[in-house]
Amino acid sequence: MQNVISLPAYTEHAKLAEKYQQAVALNNLHHDRNAALLHAIYFRCIEVPTPVPVGGALEIALNNGIIGGVENLVSDLITIANGPTDVKWAILSLDILTRQLVLDQTTDHDSFGVAAIPVMAFDLYEHAYWMDYGTNRAAYAEAFVAGLNWAEVDRRLTSAQKISSGVVL
Ligand SMILES: [Fe+2]
Repeated sequence: MQNVISLPAYTEHAKLAEKYQQAVALNNLHHDRNAALLHAIYFRCIEVPTPVPVGGALEIALNNGIIGGVENLVSDLITIANGPTDVKWAILSLDILTRQLVLDQTTDHDSFGVAAIPVMAFDLYEHAYWMDYGTNRAAYAEAFVAGLNWAEVDRRLTSAQKISSGVVL
């Protein structure tokens, strides 16, 4: 399987994953922190393709929530990639007030729910796919979902659920 992204071309961008702590330490604008965090999650979730853990937190939350299952999530991600090109991120998050998994589309690094803990991020900026796929965002999306480390998404969701325990509006 072809890599989701061209690693040599994207190496400089991957370093953003290492800059989150630096951005926090410097009290940078939330835009910088969000960009670093979303890229960190993006790269962590595609390091090693791994199946969805059967009976895990992710499968349970998807099946019992508004998304309605792993297949629906994959379909939604591909639909988003095939949609308007001004959408730059698709972000799967745990809403800490409703305990629901939600899938947000954003046109920048900043516009997602303030009660959301991201557990998976799909980079749809041109720099993420242009070197390998040109204008073919559909092919990029197919490669992304095929290369997902679902165990990492499951692990992140499990952590988010622990964090959100007891949080009320
Ligand atoms: Fe990016």
